[in-house]
Amino acid sequence: MNIPDIFETMDYGPAPESNAEALEWIATHGGKFGHFIGGAFTKPAKGFETRNPATGAVLAQVSQADSKVVAEAVAAARKAQPKWAALPGHGRAKVLYALARLLQKHSRLFAVLESMDNGKPIREARDIDIPLATRHFYYHAGMAQLMEAELADRAALGVCGQIIPWNFPLLMLAWKIAPALAMGNTVVLKPAEYTPLTALLFAQICDEAGVPAGVVNIITGDGETGAALVEAEVDKVAFTGSTEVGRAIRRATAGTGKSLTLELGGKSPYIVFDDADLDSAVEGLVDAIWFNQGQVCCAGSRLLVHEAVAEDFYKRLKVRMDGLRIGDPLDKCIDVGAVVDPVQLAQITSMVDGCSEGEVYRADTPLPEGCFYPPTLITGLSAASPLMQEEIFGPVLVSTTFRTPVEAVELANNTRYGLAATLWTENVNLALDIAPKLAAGVVWVNATNLFDAAAGFGGVRESGFGREGGWEGLLAYTKPKVALKGAAVPVPFAAPEGGTRPDLDRTAKMYVGGKQARPDSGYSQAIWGPKGALLGHVGIGSRKDVRNAVEAAGKARGWGKTTGHLRAQILFYLAENLSARAEEFAGRISDLTGTSKAKASAEVEASIARLFTYGAWADKFDGAAKPVPMRGVALAMNEPVGIIGALCPGEAPLLGLVTAISPAMAMGAPVVAVASEAFPLAATDFYQLLDTSDVPAGAVNILTGPVADLGATLAAHLEVDTLWNFADPALDADLQSAAAGNVKRTWTQRMDWSAPQAEGRAFLQAASEVKTVWVPYGE
Ligand code: NAI
Repeated sequence: MNIPDIFETMDYGPAPESNAEALEWIATHGGKFGHFIGGAFTKPAKGFETRNPATGAVLAQVSQADSKVVAEAVAAARKAQPKWAALPGHGRAKVLYALARLLQKHSRLFAVLESMDNGKPIREARDIDIPLATRHFYYHAGMAQLMEAELADRAALGVCGQIIPWNFPLLMLAWKIAPALAMGNTVVLKPAEYTPLTALLFAQICDEAGVPAGVVNIITGDGETGAALVEAEVDKVAFTGSTEVGRAIRRATAGTGKSLTLELGGKSPYIVFDDADLDSAVEGLVDAIWFNQGQVCCAGSRLLVHEAVAEDFYKRLKVRMDGLRIGDPLDKCIDVGAVVDPVQLAQITSMVDGCSEGEVYRADTPLPEGCFYPPTLITGLSAASPLMQEEIFGPVLVSTTFRTPVEAVELANNTRYGLAATLWTENVNLALDIAPKLAAGVVWVNATNLFDAAAGFGGVRESGFGREGGWEGLLAYTKPKVALKGAAVPVPFAAPEGGTRPDLDRTAKMYVGGKQARPDSGYSQAIWGPKGALLGHVGIGSRKDVRNAVEAAGKARGWGKTTGHLRAQILFYLAENLSARAEEFAGRISDLTGTSKAKASAEVEASIARLFTYGAWADKFDGAAKPVPMRGVALAMNEPVGIIGALCPGEAPLLGLVTAISPAMAMGAPVVAVASEAFPLAATDFYQLLDTSDVPAGAVNILTGPVADLGATLAAHLEVDTLWNFADPALDADLQSAAAGNVKRTWTQRMDWSAPQAEGRAFLQAASEVKTVWVPYGE
C-alpha cells in the first residue's frame, strides 16, 4: 500500500499493546489468587477461572469466598476501623494520595489487565477507566484532608460491604473505596466474577501505599459471595449492578439498620433536536452506546430523534457505524472490543433476536470470531416495545422519532429507569428548558458519558438511590457524630369506663387534594384524652385513602417548579397563621397528650420556628457548579425528590407533623403525611391552616389511622418516591421490604424533635435529589 492509498482508505494498521507485563504479574502469583484479607493474600482456594473474553484464554484462577471467608474479611475490617477513623484526616489523605500516585505509576499495567479481563478496548481502559479511577483517589484524598473542617459533625459509618459489576471494574472500585476510606470507613469489596483481576492488583498496591492492614479487603466470588457479604455484620452496603439484584439487596437489608446505596440499571434517552449539530451528535452516539460495547449503566441506549432530521441522521449514523473497528481489544486502533462473557453475548443475542418489530441495521464491518457483537441500530420501534424498555447492556441502539419537544420529554421519561439523559441542540434555551424536565440523575448537554469525581453520579426511580462523587456522594459514607435517641413510641389512651363525652360530636376527616375527605372505609375511631375525656373521632384511613392522597400529590408535582421565593412566603404565612392560633393548638396538645400547658406551648412555638426555618431555606438550599477538569461545568441542581410518604412521630403531634411536611414544602415535594396515631387531632386541626395559607391543593395531604398499615401501603405504592419513617423503627423491616418494588429511598429518624438536629440540611437533602447537568462552558 502506498501513501495515496493510505490517505484514500484512512485504514489503520494494527497497533497492538503488549500483554507481557500483565501476564508476568499473573504469573508471579502462580496464576492463582486467594483473597486479600487483613493486609495479606490468603492461600488460593477452590474457585473459578477468569477468562479473556476476546480470546477465550484462561487468565487466572480465583477463589470463591464462602460466608466463613466473608466473616473473616469483615472481622479484619472491623478490627482496623477505629484506628483508621481516629487518624487525623491528613493521615488518611496521605494514604489516598499514595494510592492515586501508584495508580498513575502502574497505569499501563492496570489498563492492559483491565482490557484483557473485561474485553474493553485498551484505548478506553487507558484514556478513561484508569485516569478517572486515579482522579477519584486524588479528589478523595482532598476530602479526607477537609473532613474535620468541613464535615465536623459527621463520623464514619464503620465497615462497608461493597459489591461492584464487571463493566468498569477498577473505576467502580475507585468510586466505592475512595470516599469510604476518606471518611474513615474500612471496606470489604467484592469485584464481579468476570473481572476480578484489577481489584487484586489494587489490593497489592494497597500495601505499597501504606494502607493499614484490614482497611481494604478484597474477596472474590459470585452472587452467593455477594449475598453473604450483604448478610454479614457490615454497617453499609454499597451496590452497583442490575436492578433485579439491587431489589434483592434492598429486601435482604430491610429492617437491619444497614445503610444502603444502590446504583442500578438504566435505559437512558439520547435526544437529538432538529437544530443539533448532527455530526457531533453522531460522534456522541459512538461514545454513548458503543463505548465499552454498550455495557454501560448510563449508556445512551434509546435514541430519540426529531422527525424532520431523522432520515438524514440515520444515514450519517450508519456511515459512522460502518467505520467502527471491531476486534482485538489490545489493539490501540480498535473502537469496539469484546462483550464481557459468552453469557452476556447470549443475552444480547436473544433479546435482539426476540424482537419482531422495527428495522435492524448491523454495522457493515468484519466481525471477529468469538465474544463479539456488531454495533446495531434498531429503528421504528414503538415506545412500549420491550427493547425500548429493557436494558440490553450491549452495543444495540434502539430508536424512535418525535415531533415536538413536549413529545420528546414524554418519550424520554417513558421508562421505569432514571439514570441519565443526553440532549443535543444548538439552542441553549431549549437545552435548559428540557434538562429540568427529564427524569434522570445526570443530564449531558451536547456531550455524553462525561464523568468526574467532583460531579455526583446516580439515578432516580428504579435506577437506584444515592450519589457517587462530589460532596453529595460523601454523605452516604458518614453518619451524624452525635446519635440522638427518640422517645418511646406512644400508644393511644384507652377508652375509660364512663368517660366524658363532648356536647357535640366532632369527627375529623382526612386532608386530600386540598379538601377534607371522608375515610373510604367509613370507619372512624375515638380519640381519648389522658383523663378519660373523649376528644373527638378521626377516620381510619385505608389503602383507598392512600391511593387518593398519592393521586392528589401526583397532580401537585408542579409544586416543585414554583419558585423557592413563593414557597418561602407560603411557609412564613403558615407560621403566621399558626402563631395566631398558638394558644388553641397548645390547649389541644395538652388535652391530647396530658403534657403541661407550658410544654405544649413550647411545642407550638418550636413548630412556628421550624416553619420559619424552612421558609428561610426554601430559597437558599443552593445547588453548586462543579469545576470539572474539562471544557464544561457540572451543575448540581437540587430537585424535589418526588412524592414523599411521611409517617409522623407519634409523640409530638404538631411538631412532628411540621418536621415532616415543612422540608418537603421547602423543596416543593408533594407529601402524604400520616398523622400521629396516638394523638392525631393536632394534625387534623392543622387542615384549616393549610387551607388559609395558600398551600396548593395536593402539596400536603394528611391521613389518619393505623400507621403500620398506611405506611405499608405507601411503601408499596409505585408512585411514591421516598418513604420517611419518623414514627417507629420497628416498622422498618416491612416498610423497607415493600419499598424494594420501585426501589424507593427510605429514611428513618428518631430523635428529640425539638433538637437543632431535627431540622436543616439533612432534611432538605432527604427531600431532594441532586441532578447533575453537564453543560459546555468556557474555552
Ligand atoms: P449482577 O447485578 O448480577 O452483578 C453485579 C454484582 O452483584 C456482581 O459482583 C455479582 O457477583 C453480585 N451479585 C449477584 N447476585 C447477588 C446477590 N444476590 N447479592 C449480592 N450480590 C450479588 O449483574 P450481572 O448478572 O453481572 O449482569 C446482568 C445484567 O445486569 C446485565 O445484563 C445488565 O443489564 C445489568 N448490569 C448493570 C450494571 C450497572 O452498572 N448498572 C452492571 C452490571 C450489570
